[in-house]
Amino acid sequence: MTTSKRGFWIAAGCAAAVLALVGGRAPAQTAQPDYHPSLGDLMTMAVQPRHIKLGLAGRARDWTYLGYEAGELRNAFNRVARTVPAYRNSDMAGMISSNIKEPLDRLDEAIKARDGRRFDAAYAEVTHACNTCHQGLGHPEVVIQVPQAWMFPDQDLGTARVRAKGPAAAGR
Ligand code: HEC
Repeated sequence: MTTSKRGFWIAAGCAAAVLALVGGRAPAQTAQPDYHPSLGDLMTMAVQPRHIKLGLAGRARDWTYLGYEAGELRNAFNRVARTVPAYRNSDMAGMISSNIKEPLDRLDEAIKARDGRRFDAAYAEVTHACNTCHQGLGHPEVVIQVPQAWMFPDQDLGTARVRAKGPAAAGR
């Protein structure tokens, strides 16, 4: 073997050793710990903001957005049931469907009909259903209400239109 060839094989061997070392260590360095959000986490990050946005956009009668966001809230509950299938021996999918499915259906109907009064009634029912489930699952201290103040300042929830036209533009 010529000197240059031997040099090549030494270099190749070193490269392979380095790769094996890096490769062997890689999973430990890049593996992310699994994140298992609790039911309280999911309520705070996936359910509560959507309930608020529905309330605010509802005041502005922003029907197109409301149709979208009502679907988001419904899907969030479906994901809650998949992520936390049981809570204190209660079946989440069952609790969700017996508590809040029908109010969500009525909310959808009101949005499709673009009927402000029906929306307000259905939204109050949805809000009530949040609390019924909280009471049923041992958390009566978690009290949800119709939002009392504007928030999400970076998102136009129909609010710009309402402000432009005055409060009379909200509600029909
Ligand atoms: C299927 C039952 C169920 C429904 C329906 C439900 N929740 Fe909850 N929610 C819970 C339970 C149980 C907890 C307590 C979880 C925990 O902390 O262990 C909770 C907790 C919460 C919390 C407390 C988080 C905190 O840290 O303050 C908020 C906010 C919340 N829910 C919002 C809502 C809203 C808004 C709705 C309705 C759109 C709703 N929930 C509907 C079961 C439900």
